[in-house]
Amino acid sequence: MSHAWRPLFVIIAVVIIIFTARIIIVPSDFEATNGDYKYQWHRVSSEQDWKDFPVKHKGREFCEQCHDEMTATVKGSGHTNVQCESCHVQFNPDKKGHPIDLKEDFDYLLEIGIDRSRALCKRCHTKLVYRPIPKIYIKNRESYEDMKLVDPTEHNPGIECIECHDVHRTEFK
Ligand code: HEC
Ligand code: HEC
Ligand code: HEC
Ligand code: HEC
Repeated sequence: MSHAWRPLFVIIAVVIIIFTARIIIVPSDFEATNGDYKYQWHRVSSEQDWKDFPVKHKGREFCEQCHDEMTATVKGSGHTNVQCESCHVQFNPDKKGHPIDLKEDFDYLLEIGIDRSRALCKRCHTKLVYRPIPKIYIKNRESYEDMKLVDPTEHNPGIECIECHDVHRTEFK
């Protein structure tokens, strides 16, 4: 047999390996069916996996059930775009604590509490030299506005922001 055939055998072997590997690796329910997707191919059982995925953040409609006045205040303020959970979900045990057990009765998975430190506000309001000032659409004012940023080393250092700013109304105390 001519030596020229040998590479052909190698190629055939590689192709067989690829097809065998594909049978093993690709899940059996990977199909182009059942879905309103642009590219139909997907693992059909993944739809159920995502339905079963526990939702952690529930948005302010959830808080509104009991905090309707507070929610209305925030919706009408400069913080209209900011979810309660962006400020009230706490990982620090000292800052956790919600008077009602939301886990038991509502299957709520996050810890709610209050952080009164400058660090909370600095997370979003610090002027950063390397970051262009974002334009934010403020829904209740129907206008695009520059994000209001401060340099925390110059803007009243040493005093908690909430001493002067009412955070829910975004007005002065
Ligand atoms: C089942 C009703 C209920 C739900 C839902 C609920 N809360 Fe409350 N929450 C209360 C009650 C009652 C209090 C105590 C009275 C008060 O401060 O209004 C409270 C108090 C608080 C406090 C003050 C805690 C303190 O230490 O003084 C915060 C902050 C708070 N809730 C945030 C939230 C956020 C954020 C959500 C949504 C993720 C939420 N709550 C959902 C009923 C609820
Ligand atoms: C931008 C951050 C931020 C957002 C958004 C926010 N909060 Fe607060 N919240 C705070 C801070 C900070 C305090 C403590 C204020 C203080 O002690 O003066 C607080 C205090 C509270 C309190 C207890 C004290 C009080 O004034 O009654 C409740 C209840 C509360 N928030 C509920 C909510 C709910 C409900 C939402 C969403 C509709 C919300 N907050 C949105 C930062 C926020
Ligand atoms: C999760 C991000 C986030 C956090 C945390 C946050 N803010 Fe804001 N804040 C925003 C956004 C977004 C706006 C709307 C854009 C703007 O006006 O800068 C805003 C607006 C404001 C405004 C301007 C309101 C207006 O009417 O134009 C003030 C003042 C303010 N925040 C103060 C605070 C203070 C004080 C804290 C801490 C207690 C805080 N913010 C925490 C995101 C945040
Ligand atoms: C001693 C009171 C005081 C403290 C503490 C304070 N501020 Fe202010 N803040 C003001 C005053 C007064 C203004 C308006 C004049 C100015 O721009 O300096 C203002 C303006 C702002 C603005 C711009 C609001 C707008 O509508 O243009 C933001 C954002 C802000 N502060 C965030 C913060 C944050 C974040 C902290 C904490 C890190 C903080 N402030 C601490 C008094 C305070």
